[in-house]
Amino acid sequence: MGAGSIAAASEGRVRWDPNDPAFRADPYPTYDRLRSKRPVFLSDRRSELVITRYDDVVRVLRHPDVSRDVEANARFDPGDPIAAARHERRVGAKNILTLDPPDHTRLRRLVSKAFTPRSVERLRPAMIARVDAALDRAAAAGGMELIDDLAFPFPFDVISELLGMPTDRADEMREWSQQLTATLEPQATLADLDLGAQVLTDMIPYLIGIVDERRAAPRDDLLSALIAVEDDGDTMDAAELLSFVILLYVAGHETTVNLIGNGMLALLRHPDQLAAWRADPELDAAAIEELMRYDGPVQHTVRVAMQPIEFDDGHGGQVVAEPGQMILCALGAANHDPAVFDQPDTLRLDRLNASRHVGFSSGIHYCLGASLAKLEASIALSRLIRRFPRVAMVGEPHWRDRITIRGVDRLELQLA
Ligand code: HEM
Repeated sequence: MGAGSIAAASEGRVRWDPNDPAFRADPYPTYDRLRSKRPVFLSDRRSELVITRYDDVVRVLRHPDVSRDVEANARFDPGDPIAAARHERRVGAKNILTLDPPDHTRLRRLVSKAFTPRSVERLRPAMIARVDAALDRAAAAGGMELIDDLAFPFPFDVISELLGMPTDRADEMREWSQQLTATLEPQATLADLDLGAQVLTDMIPYLIGIVDERRAAPRDDLLSALIAVEDDGDTMDAAELLSFVILLYVAGHETTVNLIGNGMLALLRHPDQLAAWRADPELDAAAIEELMRYDGPVQHTVRVAMQPIEFDDGHGGQVVAEPGQMILCALGAANHDPAVFDQPDTLRLDRLNASRHVGFSSGIHYCLGASLAKLEASIALSRLIRRFPRVAMVGEPHWRDRITIRGVDRLELQLA
């Protein structure tokens, strides 16, 4: 079956509406309904094929016939002004995340050495010192607002230091990153897209200034290494370098912060699990995998079918994504698929297969910063809960109203 079967898949009472604030507040019940009733579901809005089963998500992410370059390759409705604007603005340098092979393969090889578990592990002592300094301040104050006092500044300082970027414009960079990631949201407006374009206009001259400084006087930092990078004759051009630096900054700002925030909230809501982790340092690595699975920051990503891709529709039939069809891989839904994770809505830090989660994606675009993010979150959360025998939430957490990168943006803690 072809497009006709896709149209049929959109019928029925199941809905996927990223504009519904209730969905963004708690997407998991919607994922469950989709997965059990319409696991391959055509949304009415922008013609995404939403897939929610773990096996489908992994298959698409690893599929040789998909593209990550949605703006260039996805079929779009010319009557939809947002889709048309996205398509028009696709010009310009692409970053590693949106490139397909062979450019993706070349860039990934050039930069991957800096992010291996071994090179990241070297940062551990400096990370511990940063977290402990924040916890000292919290101890003196008797509490902290987790996001502003630790979850945001800590990964930002780490990535800035790793790159060798100054931190004097941290507030501005934070705002820029937030405005850039707003364009990734399905509910982004034309105004959001305009603002994103404006941010790049402001950010690029600032970054070019720093790159030029490093080029003239290299230091022992990642930025200098990236400027000099060459591998078997492969190199990175100036536009690729800038796009990569921007991506690292945005990743450093917008994702680990949410793993620390969402992770702490999950622990506070499961005091038995918090107590178990506090008592057992052996759980440090496994706990982070389960927190990523349970409520990870990145809820979905997209691919475009470049050849027909068939799916079992869950009702004895088939759905075919034809070339140009955008496929939305619901990572959060895959991570709660009961076919893979027993009692998926229960937080169990000792879950044996938690690391099979796809919160960092899968296949060629698997998160380059995964080791860094996991180490940061593990140090931040484990040291916080071990330093303070009593950690309590004050009031209610506040969620940022986003779904692509989803997380709490205020979590007030009382610490004793
Ligand atoms: C908990 C924190 C993080 C999460 C949940 C996360 C999630 C992801 C996901 C889902 C992707 C792949 C998207 C796709 O397949 O389309 C990705 C890619 C990427 N991430 Fe992360 N990320 C995190 C932290 C970081 C950090 C700290 C860095 C770097 C400092 C980073 C750098 C990157 C890069 C460069 C890519 C592109 C890789 C490629 O396309 O080959 N991420 N991340």
